[in-house]
Amino acid sequence: MNNAIFISGTPCTGKTTVSEVLADRLDCKLIKINDLAIENNFVLGIDEDKGYKVIDIDSLNEKVLEIIDSNDGMIIFEGHLSHLCDGADKVIILRVRPEILEKRLAKRKYSKAKIRENLEAEAMGVCSAEAFDKYGDNVFEIDVTDLSIDDTSDLINCVISGNGDFHVGSVDFMDWLLNNF
Ligand SMILES: Nc1ncnc2c1ncn2[C@@H]1O[C@H](COP(=O)(O)OP(=O)(O)OP(=O)(O)O)[C@@H](O)[C@H]1O
Ligand SMILES: [Mg+2]
Repeated sequence: MNNAIFISGTPCTGKTTVSEVLADRLDCKLIKINDLAIENNFVLGIDEDKGYKVIDIDSLNEKVLEIIDSNDGMIIFEGHLSHLCDGADKVIILRVRPEILEKRLAKRKYSKAKIRENLEAEAMGVCSAEAFDKYGDNVFEIDVTDLSIDDTSDLINCVISGNGDFHVGSVDFMDWLLNNF
């Protein structure tokens, strides 16, 4: 049985929105990794250049494992740092075409540099690659660009139940890099 499902991906790929719907549907616990880090004072500081919070990943990891160990049913952990933590039965990376992701990131009033950095990371599949390094065949990726929240939730459910072919490598946005060099 899958106990811990981690949902990760570049900022604005819809992790929080879909995880809330999914946790409700599966009637399971949802842990938002960003909130967990803040509540437990795992924020080491702010990277002034990039505007990111710098998180103490080792402490976050310990806390995640503690929660998994002390829980009986299924738990969903969502957040772009989740795939760097241990303890997942499956890691699911949400992918969004950089052209579309750009519009969502722009709405957040991120700097141009931060938007560009995130788009490059998405085009190169950084989260998928990092997760694959740690979790290998237990990593799955879903192109959710044209999917509604409910459709995304359906596909994540397929992955959790072991259906469909969503292994890493099935999504490729590298053409964006070539066209936006
Ligand atoms: N399937 C979708 N279709 C259209 N818009 C979506 C979809 N999923 C999410 N969005 C929109 O994209 C934005 C980002 O969603 P959300 O906050 O869930 O992303 P996130 O991956 O949790 O981001 P972060 O990593 O910054 O926490 C929101 O405005 C949300 O309404
Ligand atoms: Mg979020």
